[in-house]
Amino acid sequence: MSEDNKNRAQFATRLGVVAVTVGSAVGLGNIWRFPYEAGANGGAAFMLLNLLFVFVIGVPVMCAEFVIGRHTGANVRGAFRRLSPGTGWGVVGYIGILSSVLILSFYSVVAGWTMEYIWRSVAGFGGMHADAESLHSQFDEFAAGNVRPAMWTVLFLLCNYAILARGVEKGIERVSNVLMPLLFVILFAFCVHSLCMPGAAEGLGFLFRPDFSQITPSVVLSAMGQAFFSLSLGLGCLITYSSYFSRRTPLVKTAFLTASLDSFVAIVAGVIIFPAVFTFGQEPAAGPRLVFEVLPAIFAEMAGGAVWSALFFVLLFTASLTSTVSMSEITIAWLCDDMHMSRRRATRINIGVAMLLGTLCALSFGCLNGVRMFGMTLFELFDYVSSNVLLPVGGMIISVYAGWVLDRKVMRSELAPATRRGRALVGTLVFCMRCVAPVCILLVFLAGLGLLPV
Ligand code: PFF
Repeated sequence: MSEDNKNRAQFATRLGVVAVTVGSAVGLGNIWRFPYEAGANGGAAFMLLNLLFVFVIGVPVMCAEFVIGRHTGANVRGAFRRLSPGTGWGVVGYIGILSSVLILSFYSVVAGWTMEYIWRSVAGFGGMHADAESLHSQFDEFAAGNVRPAMWTVLFLLCNYAILARGVEKGIERVSNVLMPLLFVILFAFCVHSLCMPGAAEGLGFLFRPDFSQITPSVVLSAMGQAFFSLSLGLGCLITYSSYFSRRTPLVKTAFLTASLDSFVAIVAGVIIFPAVFTFGQEPAAGPRLVFEVLPAIFAEMAGGAVWSALFFVLLFTASLTSTVSMSEITIAWLCDDMHMSRRRATRINIGVAMLLGTLCALSFGCLNGVRMFGMTLFELFDYVSSNVLLPVGGMIISVYAGWVLDRKVMRSELAPATRRGRALVGTLVFCMRCVAPVCILLVFLAGLGLLPV
C-alpha cells in the first residue's frame, strides 16, 4: 500500500466487509430484476446460463477488481492512473463512473416504488383483490401518475445522501451489518409460503426445468448482463470498496461467498415469485412491473398480509439502499480523491445528478412514455445500455488488465494462496481472467447485438 493510502478509511471488521460486499450485490437486481428477466427470457434456461456466467466470468472479474482496488487503495479512476500512468487504461474509470450514474438513476425509480408499496401496505392496499386485472391496473395507475413516482425517487435519493455523507465506516458498514441478515430470514419465510400455493409445481417447473430451445443470442447477452449487474461488476464498484479492505481480508473467499449468496437470493426470489405468477394467472414476461404486481397478490392472501407486506418492502427498500450507496461511492470516492472535493460536496453533486436523471426515468412511465430511443423509454435505455453494454465492456477491460498487464507478483501477493489447492484455484482464476472471461464476453456481446452471424 502506498504512503498516501495510510489514512484511507477502512471497513472495521471481517463481518463488515462481507456485509457491505453482499449488501452491494444483493438488491433489486436479485429480487426485482432477476425474476422479470428470467420471466421474459424463458425461465430455467436463463437461470442456468446466468449461474454459468456468475461463476466462470463473475468470480474471476470480481477477484480482479478486488486485487486492483486493495493493491492501489484508490478509486476506480485513480487505481488505473496509479498502476499505468499516462496510458489509456484509465478509460475504464470513466466507463465506471458513467455506468454508476445511469444505474443509480433508474434504480432509484424502482427503489421509490418500494417506498410507495410500504406506504400502501400500511394503508391496507385499499381493499385490494388478488386478481390479475386489478393488480395490473393498480400498478399502472401509480406508475403513470408522474408526481408520486418522481417524489419517491427524490426521497429515496435523499435517504442515500443521509448515509453517504456520514462516510464509509459509520454510514455504510453499520447499516449493512443489521439489514442484510434480516432480509435473508424474511425471504426464507416467504419462500416457504409460496411453495404451498396451488401454482407451485408449475412455477417451479418454469424456474428449474430448462427448455434450451428458448436460448437465443439476445437471451445469452441478457443472462450475462444480469450476472454483471447483480454482482455489481464491471464499473469499479468493487475496486472502490476493496480499497477500504484491510490486508487481512481473504479476497478469493470473499468473492466466492458473495457470488454464492447473491445467486442464492436470486433463486429464492424466483421461488417466491413464479409459484404466485402461475397461481394468480399472470404473465411471467410482464417486465419490470412483474414483482410489483405479484407480491401484493401474495400478501393479499396471507393472514396479517399488511404487516408482512410492509416488512417485505421495508427490507427490499433497505437492500436497494445498500446497493445504491455502493454505486454512489464510485463517483464520490473519485471526486474526493482526484478532484479534492469534500465528502459532502461530492455527495451533493452525485445525488443531484441522479435526482435529475432519476426524475426523467420515473416520468418515462408517465408523461415521457412517448420519448423513445431505439424503441426504448429512457428507463429501459439506461438499464439496457449499462447492464448489457457498459458493464460487460468494463468487465472485459478490467479482466484483460488484471490478467495480462498487472504484475504477477501483485496478483499472487493479493490473492495469497497458502495451500496447494489454493494455488491451483488461483491459477484457474487467473486463466479465466486472461482468456475465458475476455473471449466469452466479447463473443456474447457481439452475438447479442447481432454483430456475429450465429
Ligand atoms: N448489484 C446490485 C443489485 O443486484 O441490485 C446493483 C448494483 C449495485 C449494480 C452496485 C452496480 C453497482 F455498482
